[in-house]
Amino acid sequence: MKVTVVGAGNVGATVADVIAQREVANEVVIVDIKENYAEGKALDMWETSPIRLSDTRLIGSTNDYSKTTGSDVVVITSGLPRKPGMSRDDLISTNAKIVKSVTESVVKESPDAIIIVVANPLDVMSYTAYLAAKKHSSKVFGMAGILDTARYRSFLAEELNVSPKDIQALLMGGHGDTMVPLPRYTTVAGIPVTQLIDKDKLDAIVERTKKGGGEIVKLLGTSAWYAPGEAAAQMVEAIAKDQKRIFPVCAYLDGEYGLKNVYLGVPVVLGKNGIEKIIEIEMNETERADLDASDKAVREVMTVLDDMKLF
Ligand code: NAI
Ligand code: 2OP
Repeated sequence: MKVTVVGAGNVGATVADVIAQREVANEVVIVDIKENYAEGKALDMWETSPIRLSDTRLIGSTNDYSKTTGSDVVVITSGLPRKPGMSRDDLISTNAKIVKSVTESVVKESPDAIIIVVANPLDVMSYTAYLAAKKHSSKVFGMAGILDTARYRSFLAEELNVSPKDIQALLMGGHGDTMVPLPRYTTVAGIPVTQLIDKDKLDAIVERTKKGGGEIVKLLGTSAWYAPGEAAAQMVEAIAKDQKRIFPVCAYLDGEYGLKNVYLGVPVVLGKNGIEKIIEIEMNETERADLDASDKAVREVMTVLDDMKLF
């Protein structure tokens, strides 16, 4: 299994590091545009391998895509992160150009690779990569839902003073303030969370989740990387090991949930073929209205991409 991670910044380096630590792939190539940056990060990680007992080879490259040839999975993290006061959508004009050119470069070297997009604004960057890659949408998708549900699950674990391992949750929609956490589909060791936390507290946790990315930006002056890196690596692992894990993934919808021609977070089965199935859950009126509002918000950002006339 060969994995390429584009972008050796905070998230990209974390993805590569987690993959190596868990020996999910036998080779990870990290590419960055900044001279020697990926080489330096890859070397530092490789020098960690005798300590953590990992065989995963790590190779860095300054924009030389020939080193990525034959990758099975490519994770695209290249792009500007948010600064305080910015929304994810503010990043589109710069990041769309980066994601388009990077996707074209990786596809040239690895036509069969599965592409996982991380750069923001996530839903529209996933769509950008899809247009640039000219591949089936089951092979091009984005990471957000695992991160957003992880935030939601960690807040619930804190509130209930229980292990986060026992919290299962589902969250849908775009990776922005309109994301749709679903308390009705949240359980604690099989117990519906609605039996364990009163409505006001649960509503507050849902709100905190929606703004979870911004909470970190306020604290750090840039966006998160540990949880995003773990989340993207978990998707790579599900593909590498053909685990058929069920995750919320930013997927192309072609009629599922009655929505077409949009990338949005939905539950999918992830295995060696990428998205092997999109699961359609039953939603009540409020949940459905929230999903539609999220769809609308993502489509508004898509019009900015259309206006850029990159395709
Ligand atoms: P960062 O600034 O630490 O790293 C970005 C890296 O991309 C830099 O090293 C930069 O040199 C590189 N880069 C820029 N243009 C490039 C190009 N054309 N080719 C190759 N490399 C290039 O940023 P960070 O924190 O790693 O975030 C990366 C992206 O991921 C941002 O857009 C951020 O908003 C997004 N993000 C998305 C999350 C999600 O849930 N989907 C979570 C966290 C971050
Ligand atoms: C996050 O949610 C900024 O998308 C990034 O942390």
